[in-house]
Amino acid sequence: MYCVRNVTEDLYWVGANDHRLALFENIHPIPRGVSYNAYLLLDEKSVLFDTVDWSACRQFLENVEHLLGGRGLDYLVINHMEPDHGASIEEILLRYPKVKIISTEKAFMLMRQFGFQVDGHELIEVKEGDTQSFGKHVVTFVAAPMVHWPEAMVTFDTTNGVLFSADAFGSFGALDGKLFADEVDFDRDWIDDARRYYTNIVGKYGPHVMHLLKKAGTIDIKMLCPLHGPVWRENIPYLLDKYVHWATYEPEEKGVVVAYASMYGNTEAAAQALASKLCEKGMTNVWLYDVSNTHVSYLISETFRLSHVVLASVTYNLGIYPVMYGFLQDMKALNLQKRTVAIVENGSWACKSGDLMQKFLDDEMKGITVLNERLSLASSLGEGKEAELDALANAILASMQ
Ligand code: FEO
Repeated sequence: MYCVRNVTEDLYWVGANDHRLALFENIHPIPRGVSYNAYLLLDEKSVLFDTVDWSACRQFLENVEHLLGGRGLDYLVINHMEPDHGASIEEILLRYPKVKIISTEKAFMLMRQFGFQVDGHELIEVKEGDTQSFGKHVVTFVAAPMVHWPEAMVTFDTTNGVLFSADAFGSFGALDGKLFADEVDFDRDWIDDARRYYTNIVGKYGPHVMHLLKKAGTIDIKMLCPLHGPVWRENIPYLLDKYVHWATYEPEEKGVVVAYASMYGNTEAAAQALASKLCEKGMTNVWLYDVSNTHVSYLISETFRLSHVVLASVTYNLGIYPVMYGFLQDMKALNLQKRTVAIVENGSWACKSGDLMQKFLDDEMKGITVLNERLSLASSLGEGKEAELDALANAILASMQ
């Protein structure tokens, strides 16, 4: 049975939702599922914008077939070739062999690399600024390299202001019927998943995203149609503002994420004591996470949201606790910067984690300010540590001014 929704009078969502996939890209948990969005334009020509993941192919094909109602498919525009969107290209070619594929040179190369039999079909290679008329609708193609792969482009419909934005402006989370962002309480129910999607998938490529945002600022966008998550037809500046923060690595809020690595609860107790101090002194936007039981994608998302990070780690095999080290490596990989970091270290006989975390932050990352004040524990937060704890809380608060 088909499952489609109208986007505009002649544009339809023909994607599908996936609640069965546990890990997006086989790494990021998606407890609320994910949607693979594809769109079908029924103009004088019929035009499909992107396909879907293999797992959603059957639903997608039923949707397309239903809306075409027996007419052929004239064009397939591939904005992004990552397999969660490109995997069903061959299935489209099998059913609609006369379809013309429009995409970038690199995308055609990737199609061949992935083993798709596209040669023998009509391939239209486009680049920045090229246009294509489908009848009433005229679209222009805009290069979007590294948002999130090098071949990516976005397509702007100059007739109605719809931007097919590929991975940009997407989100984790299945739509479950609610196609538009204005049909949900996005700021309450979706923003955390949108942030976690952006920061972990595209976060590394902030400068490329800013480049695309600058180009987007020159066109009159009325609607954003991303490849995951809700479609935006209202309140677009709200999402653009979030994107500018994320792409420039500016925190959204003053606040503190306390990430702790604790083996027997003593480092956790210190993290809790520091959080209490901060709250007592008036900073209540404080969020504690145990790195051992919090997937790193959530930690990354929170560090993009908040201005300050406390890293509290035990010493393990004379090094940083492995899960904390993994978090540090992810922060580096995703290019996180412009944050103030405080260190809490623990070690029962040779406390090394603080110096090692400081070295990583100084040598491996850029734009990170590490506070001079540090809380050092020998096994646990002893009675004599009140002054150090107080000093660290005060230093965090002072750095927020
Ligand atoms: Fe949803 Fe980069 O693919």
